Amino acid sequence: MSEIESVLHENRSFEPPTAFRETASINDLETYREMHRRSIEEPEDFWGEVARELPWIEPFESVLDWSEKPVAKWFGGGKLNASAVCLDQHLTTERRDKVAILFEGEPGDVKSYTYAEAHAEVCRMANALAERGVKRGDRVAIYMPMIPELAFALLACARLGAIHSVIFGGFSATAIRDRVADGGCTAVITADGGWRRGKVLELKKVVDEALAGIDSVHTVFVVKRTNNEVAWDERRDVDLLAAMAGASAERAPEAMDAEDTLFLLYTSGSTGKPKGIRHTTGGYLVGTYLTSKYVFDLKEDDVYWCTADIGWITGHSYIVYGPLANGATCVMYEGAPNAPHPGRFWELVEKHRVSVLYTAPTAIRAFMRWGDEHVTRFDRSSLRLLGTVGEPINPKAWMWYREVVGEGRCPIVDTWWQTETGAIMITPLPGAVSTKPGSACLPFFGVDAAVVDEDGTELGANQGGLLCVRKPWPSMLRGIWGDDERYRETYWSRFGGKYYFAGDGARRDEDGYFWIMGRVDDVLNVSGHRLSTMEIESALVSHPGVVEAAVVPRPDDLTGEAVAAFVTASPGCEPGDAFADELREHVAKEIGKLARPADIHFADALPKTRSGKIMRRLLRDVAAGREVLQDTTTLEDRSVLDRLSAEGK
Ligand code: WT7
Repeated sequence: MSEIESVLHENRSFEPPTAFRETASINDLETYREMHRRSIEEPEDFWGEVARELPWIEPFESVLDWSEKPVAKWFGGGKLNASAVCLDQHLTTERRDKVAILFEGEPGDVKSYTYAEAHAEVCRMANALAERGVKRGDRVAIYMPMIPELAFALLACARLGAIHSVIFGGFSATAIRDRVADGGCTAVITADGGWRRGKVLELKKVVDEALAGIDSVHTVFVVKRTNNEVAWDERRDVDLLAAMAGASAERAPEAMDAEDTLFLLYTSGSTGKPKGIRHTTGGYLVGTYLTSKYVFDLKEDDVYWCTADIGWITGHSYIVYGPLANGATCVMYEGAPNAPHPGRFWELVEKHRVSVLYTAPTAIRAFMRWGDEHVTRFDRSSLRLLGTVGEPINPKAWMWYREVVGEGRCPIVDTWWQTETGAIMITPLPGAVSTKPGSACLPFFGVDAAVVDEDGTELGANQGGLLCVRKPWPSMLRGIWGDDERYRETYWSRFGGKYYFAGDGARRDEDGYFWIMGRVDDVLNVSGHRLSTMEIESALVSHPGVVEAAVVPRPDDLTGEAVAAFVTASPGCEPGDAFADELREHVAKEIGKLARPADIHFADALPKTRSGKIMRRLLRDVAAGREVLQDTTTLEDRSVLDRLSAEGK
């Protein structure tokens, strides 16, 4: 394979602000470099020390066992319990009465739980589950709205040693059925409904449909949230809040082996059946604990808000396990960012005095489109750190996040990682590393990341290639549920078992900074030049008239592939031929004539997954004028695609 040509040029750089640096736990580049060096050269010492900061029920005897490559074992012999790490350890400290979860529902109802209260709720829930036979090793599916009971459900399963499998609350009955069957789940935790844009999402109804004809599930636990009418099967369904009210607020945590499975989380992948990514207890907690501590530079008085849904890995690692292991105060919000108005997030920031905010590029671009006034009319002076995850963030959105949301005061941590990696892998440390708009910056401790060619040879500065990881890290996945072969094949076969590769392209610049170039499946080939779609998108979006863009290849007789762009114009911009020509010239000027889009389709919205990722593989069909026959079940809104297809005809 020839390298992926990098055409994006971004020269801005921002040092950590002095005020931030003064209190940051790691506040100079040398300290970061020395700690990183040690974590790579002496991983057992480094991770052994970190792991000892967590409360173990029985100490581990070894740190890493890599003899059964590619399945790592970390902290062998150690026993611990994830819910005790997140809750019990704080009960003997001043954090006992500190708020752990600060919840706001979409209708505006607010409820907070201190660490002591959260502990009691989790124990009650664990007892209610155990009463109905849920036990160590069982798999429990969780399909819930973003309410505190969702976080408690994860922790209650963990307390019993049951393996949770959270299914995002926007998924369909079919998606639930497939995941329940694949994981062999014997119980489901759900709610009657949840609030979304003023309406009730009827979750229990979807679960009933999903479970029709499935008899492996003995109990469905239902949290009453919206009090809508639900069908009730007396033998199978349990009113969970009622059962908790009658249960004891004490329950001893199961002593789990470090390598016992903590949870499964399904990723759809671009093709084939969803993979149940398997994470274990010890390494996952060590990884999420340390990344939360340093990447978010957590302080005792921080109010930390990760806006992701717990249905995704971001919510598992950075709403529940990582922040709670650090004793942080975590905000949880149930609803949509624009309900009932487009300033809702910023209203929440003002109201709860949020200091650390972690969100996604797709949300940032939506706020840009809705207009600055919805942000600026709320007080954001409490914010001190901003984070982003999920997709490459284009420099224009990064700068907007910095200037408009953060008033130029807050560092931005652009964090690259995956469901499979469990924890943040590439990121700036906000008090130590200068940031560059669009770059995820430098590897976190213990991460030996490299950009290599097809043979696994490391590429030079600014050469685009495959992003891989050369050493095991504690929070890495241990496999795919029920399919070890698929684990090897998907992540380890590209470099003959030597390196982990999960599909992203990247380059490293002259300072060693990583610039993620998107999925390698998305690379396009124009006249023999391999270009990253993400860089062309970024160039398009840098035009003031563009809020969002997706670029895909379209077959072309002359050039092999031509660049096709789907563009959402800014309010007040007139889509049409003249504007399309202006955009072509803009791309030519920004990155070169080669990347100039042959086709420009204007769209009021782009087809996205429910987690906000643009589904380029579907747009390829639209660009080529083909009917879309692929699997579209992970689409957020099917009508967006239908409108685009209809326009192409
Ligand atoms: C893929 C993983 C990790 C939590 C959310 C997504 C893309 C993620 C970044 C970033 C550029 C990013 C990658 C990655 N991605 N973060 N900061 N910069 N790309 O988890 O659904 O498993 O997706 O998201 O392509 O491989 P996921």
